Amino acid sequence: MTLACGIDVGGTKIAGGVVDEQGTIVDQLRVESPAEDPAAIEHAIVELVRQLAERHDFSAVGVGAPGYVAADRARVLFAPNVAWVDVDVKGDLEAELGVDSGMTVVVENDANAAAWGEFRFGAGHDVDDLMLVTVGTGVGGGLVLDGELYRGAYGVGAEIGHLRVVPDGILCGCGHHGCFEQYGSGSALVREARQIAANGVPAAEPLLARADGKVDAIDGPMITAAAREGDAFALGRLAELGRWLGAGIASLVTVLDPAVVAIGGGVSEADDLLLEPLRESFGVHLPGREHRPLAEIRRATLGNAAGIIGAADLARR
Ligand code: BGC
Ligand code: NA
Ligand code: ZN
Repeated sequence: MTLACGIDVGGTKIAGGVVDEQGTIVDQLRVESPAEDPAAIEHAIVELVRQLAERHDFSAVGVGAPGYVAADRARVLFAPNVAWVDVDVKGDLEAELGVDSGMTVVVENDANAAAWGEFRFGAGHDVDDLMLVTVGTGVGGGLVLDGELYRGAYGVGAEIGHLRVVPDGILCGCGHHGCFEQYGSGSALVREARQIAANGVPAAEPLLARADGKVDAIDGPMITAAAREGDAFALGRLAELGRWLGAGIASLVTVLDPAVVAIGGGVSEADDLLLEPLRESFGVHLPGREHRPLAEIRRATLGNAAGIIGAADLARR
């Protein structure tokens, strides 16, 4: 049984796991992400790998990075929500781990890695054409087309979070205005809820009370928890997020025609509270819907582990 290590670099956390050939995580660690400091993120990854290597035998390390990864699967060209700009992540990590460690590092886009994980072991295991949409700090996209991970000519395909969905819309971390992730991410969900609460809108009062009256303490898990207990405002916010996602996904499905669209990332924890409005909006916005087969919209099944599992599996290949 060959083990491999998968690392998922997020805007708030870095998680690492040792994964077997069946996609099972046999051991796992996580640390806070020093997202503002490019070198510190690399040191934190090396520390995680070293700790895991003390307990298990592996030599392949896959790193899922939240940004544009070059076709060499080594360099992160740009990451809208962490401080990496043209960083040779593979080179730096292998150098810091040392030649003697025998470790080889492969870098993949985080959502691509997660899509691969879901395709091999999760929500897309029964189809050949899968699109994964991750709803978290940003909006990530991963495509498996005809059984192969699609990276594009330069490695930077499937960057669905930066489709322009609103002309002159909200400023994005990528520097453009009106990107999909400014409307369809967990950050957008929280930003809107906070803004409405800050404006003193009465409907937001129960949610604000949960946050002890502190607008900035409102976060995604809190909105989901309130919605589960029937809070109308929180339900409405999730439904609004679902409508944005459904409309964007309809455009993507028009181009790509996947069998399944899986919804992952932290906000997918809200399950049907997000997915039902999303499916409805998808149906409304999909051109020719009465006359064509519909992609099935499923919740991703590997949860937070998808990136780790997919990155490890890709590194082993
Ligand atoms: C980045 C993607 C990433 C996604 C999710 C986006 O802002 O451009 O590369 O996959 O966030 O982390
Ligand atoms: Na991607
Ligand atoms: Zn953008």
